[in-house]
Amino acid sequence: MRHANSTGTDVTRVLVTGVRGKTGLPLATSLVARQGVEVRGGSSDPSTVDIAGVHPVAFSWDEPAGWAAATDGIDAVYVVRPDRADAPELVGALVAGTPPSTRVVLLSDKDGGHPGSDYPAGWAPSVERVVRGSGRPWTILRPGWFMQVFTDPRFYAHQIADAGELPFPSGDAALAWIDACDIAAVAERALVEDGHAGRTYQLSGPESLSLPRTAELLSAAVGHPVIHRDLTIDEAVAGTEGFERDLNRLTFERVRAGGFAEVTDTVAQVTGTAPKSLRDFLSANAQALRRTGR
Ligand SMILES: NC(=O)c1ccc[n+]([C@@H]2O[C@H](COP(=O)([O-])OP(=O)(O)OC[C@H]3O[C@@H](n4cnc5c(N)ncnc54)[C@H](OP(=O)(O)O)[C@@H]3O)[C@@H](O)[C@H]2O)c1
Repeated sequence: MRHANSTGTDVTRVLVTGVRGKTGLPLATSLVARQGVEVRGGSSDPSTVDIAGVHPVAFSWDEPAGWAAATDGIDAVYVVRPDRADAPELVGALVAGTPPSTRVVLLSDKDGGHPGSDYPAGWAPSVERVVRGSGRPWTILRPGWFMQVFTDPRFYAHQIADAGELPFPSGDAALAWIDACDIAAVAERALVEDGHAGRTYQLSGPESLSLPRTAELLSAAVGHPVIHRDLTIDEAVAGTEGFERDLNRLTFERVRAGGFAEVTDTVAQVTGTAPKSLRDFLSANAQALRRTGR
């Protein structure tokens, strides 16, 4: 459904949760560039949202009382899954409060496609299930690991820039790293164009790379050697606890079993443009790779 704005022009209203995040930011930026699309940028701290053309709105998973204001009159919502145990209930409640014809695009991940009803293996499928059962037109995105983990200080940016190493428990497995901007490009189509309802998209970058090969590409991009250090899964999850630890353990087990190696052509099929390679991503983000702010 489209709405008339104050000047009588038809608009499509889209709520982007996690608008400051890796996919939310490029998604909001490309949506506002579209004619007739009004973007609400959801953040737990909306005063920090400064994206040209985007209307900041308060959206926190911890404050359900604020959701109605964020979802009032929307036509589509981009749901960045909160990685916490109660995500199935939270996502279900959020979607249930949207207008009945709202297009719902869920950012899930590869784990959503693994069968499992036990904890934590059944968690990602449960979040997907509530969206599929919501009665709204839905699209589910299942990307692999984001290339942005190499530039994000919460992941590997410091180790790459400062220690020259990439500590990652891959065994001999490869990963088809994907640029989060390519996920955003798919989400953009699913939110405002027809033909994506009821689809579950497996998303990957254009090639599957071993960790030693990934480290070689990082070395070339940062201008000093970066060595892959293979960790045990226990080492990789050290310092985390509870749900986060269980989920990380499961994810790394699936990495080691090759669950993140598959290359798909979905990004190109949906957007008409091939996904970016890791080499492209690294050359476009060379500065961020070299400076970690430490
Ligand atoms: N990183 C990967 O490689 C990868 C791969 C596949 C799937 N995924 C999935 O993608 C999703 C996003 O992960 P990410 O690491 O890329 O994070 P991200 O989108 O870069 O950042 C998370 C977002 O969550 C928002 N947020 C934090 N606390 C919040 C709260 N209480 N209520 C509402 N929003 C809150 C943050 O915005 P504010 O601080 O502005 O609220 C931020 O924009 C996760 O479900 C993850 O499992 C990630």
